[in-house]
Amino acid sequence: MRVRVLFVCLGNICRSPTAEGVFRKLVTEQGMDRSIDVDSAGTHAYHINEPPDQRAVQAAAYREIDLTHIRGRQATLEDFGSFDYLLAMDEENRRNLLRIAPTDLAHKVRLFMDFSPGFNEREVPDPYWGGTAGFDRVLDMIEDAARGLLEDIRTRYQI
Ligand code: 4NP
Repeated sequence: MRVRVLFVCLGNICRSPTAEGVFRKLVTEQGMDRSIDVDSAGTHAYHINEPPDQRAVQAAAYREIDLTHIRGRQATLEDFGSFDYLLAMDEENRRNLLRIAPTDLAHKVRLFMDFSPGFNEREVPDPYWGGTAGFDRVLDMIEDAARGLLEDIRTRYQI
């Protein structure tokens, strides 16, 4: 079986594509590509079919993570059936997901930072309106939470 992970933010051009790229790289490094699928989406429709924000692409490229192939899409009702984890970057994203979640699948919606062993913050801050330093901090947080998430998957699914 494959475990499927969907990262979700507001626009799907900054935080969630970054999380997709970081987690995919980690999964590949750990030789787990055949066991885990990774995708990302936004709660809003602002940036459908757009590539990630250039600042996110650049910050990730410095860490040898490629985001250029990712295109924006909006989270859909079907995602709740298809994915095992729907991981919101902040409380607003989580609320927006829960607003459309089928009741019996709402337990799949979690805050991504709940998996972070190293950060106390529960939200990945939106870097869109700030400077480039915000994108590096987002990467630091996401890299940490990604390691915790992989541990959770390994434990839960015995892979
Ligand atoms: P993201 O950042 O949710 O991390 O992709 C944002 C991207 C776009 C907007 C807001 C946040 N926007 O208002 O267009």
